[in-house]
Amino acid sequence: MTRQISFDEVKKHNNKDSVWIVIHNDVYDVTSYLEEHPGGEEALLDVAGKDGTQAFEDVGHSEDARTVMKKFKIGTLPPSEQSGSSNVTNCSNLKWAIVALAGAIVVGIVIKKYLS
Ligand code: HEM
Repeated sequence: MTRQISFDEVKKHNNKDSVWIVIHNDVYDVTSYLEEHPGGEEALLDVAGKDGTQAFEDVGHSEDARTVMKKFKIGTLPPSEQSGSSNVTNCSNLKWAIVALAGAIVVGIVIKKYLS
């Protein structure tokens, strides 16, 4: 079973003595990886105690890197603190906005036809 770790706990591990990073809602302890990281320790320290998902994905890490990172996983954020669900909401809001916009355009065209 994976351990649940709150973001408040992650925040405490924000310096060289202990570096925890959240990536895709999973918590990684990369303290022992600082010196080995091909992207340098600065990159990891920048997001120590924070959510490093964006930074991690911006680099375009290889499959190899994703395999290596599994070794450092120590837990997962509690479901209430995970960020994936809010993205889904944003996404469906956007979908409805597009449907509404499309509807408005169709109504506009019909009205224009009737008026001319
Ligand atoms: C457990 C987490 C991580 C692991 C295991 C990891 C591993 C690696 C590996 C193996 C590489 C070599 C290139 C590749 O295979 O893609 C790499 C490159 C790099 N990483 Fe990470 N990384 C982690 C997290 C991060 C984070 C959070 C950042 C940014 C804040 C970061 C920034 C970079 C950068 C900038 C490079 C590019 C180096 C270059 O191309 O010169 N990494 N990382």
